[in-house]
Amino acid sequence: MNASFPPPLAILLELTHRCPLSCPYCSNPLQLISQRAELDTADWLRVIDEAATLGVLQAHFSGGEPTLRKDLPELLFRSRQRGLYNNLITSGVALDLERLAVLRDAGLDHVQLSIQDSVATESNRVAGYRNSHARKLACASWVCALGMPLTINVVIHRHNIERVTDMIALAVSLGATRVEVAHTQYYGWGLLNRAALLPTRGQVDTATAAVEEARTRLRGVLTIDYVTPDYYARRPKACMGGWARRFVNITPEGRALPCHAAETIRSLQFDSVRERSLADIWYHSEAFKRYRGSDWMPAPCRSCDYREIDWGGCRCQALALGGSADTLDPVCERSLDHSRLRELARSEAHAAGPAFIYRHGKREGFDS
Ligand code: FES
Repeated sequence: MNASFPPPLAILLELTHRCPLSCPYCSNPLQLISQRAELDTADWLRVIDEAATLGVLQAHFSGGEPTLRKDLPELLFRSRQRGLYNNLITSGVALDLERLAVLRDAGLDHVQLSIQDSVATESNRVAGYRNSHARKLACASWVCALGMPLTINVVIHRHNIERVTDMIALAVSLGATRVEVAHTQYYGWGLLNRAALLPTRGQVDTATAAVEEARTRLRGVLTIDYVTPDYYARRPKACMGGWARRFVNITPEGRALPCHAAETIRSLQFDSVRERSLADIWYHSEAFKRYRGSDWMPAPCRSCDYREIDWGGCRCQALALGGSADTLDPVCERSLDHSRLRELARSEAHAAGPAFIYRHGKREGFDS
């Protein structure tokens, strides 16, 4: 072990890329991993063991839709045995009360359920799945009936941003104690659909004010996490809490990544948990060390007062929008690409949006 650097706080286990929904804002990669290529149960159990030994505290079971994996109870059970706190990130549409009870009894501690909108027809349209909204509401009631804490996750874009207050009210009515209101992060399918999803600056400002008002009004009832929109920011976010500082993602086929979009950086080689232990990857993999800390930073980041606050922002966004993962995140106002990003956001957000390209590649035309 390496005593000079802490282990990750949390591991995101992307059990599968399969998903019944087709949300156009999905941050999964455009090349989805097939079921045949997924890690098997024994591999996932070993990863969980290695995570616990490494010192990880939280396991987030994610996807795709993690409940499509039949071995989920077994994985939760092992994770609970090894002392990890287990969170399920789910659309809820593949669950029923009985299955949820099995998951709880196996070791599930917390459920994070996505809701696409407060209006059922819009929610179904964005999910690309008929009647998904009603299924989600039912799932929320089962989570609460089984005594598990519930977080509602709402991804914000131009099609639902004017109903932020309604979506927060829906989360309260469903029994959630926390809601995550997250502006779309433009990676994977989200980046492909950016012109269809970007809200205007005015819409963002109104939504931000609505969140602040709700935070005050609902203090003690509901905790509201707000993930702000990069494209209108002046300073970058500390993406994932900094590259390879707090989180590790495992893809369905077993690649260990510092973030969900890291494989877009083709100059880096990401190791597989089939071939190296998690601890070896965390401490010694070249890809993890590449942007960890501040030694890698270009000027002016390396002398910036925020360098150990934002850790240089998002490397994947620097690549996608600035052409190089080694340069400044264009969200930073000191980046030469910042004004271009602002203009891009302004022009896309004010143009009539194109049709959605749904996650499975089909075009919009869905009848909810
Ligand atoms: Fe990869 Fe931000 S998504 S560093």
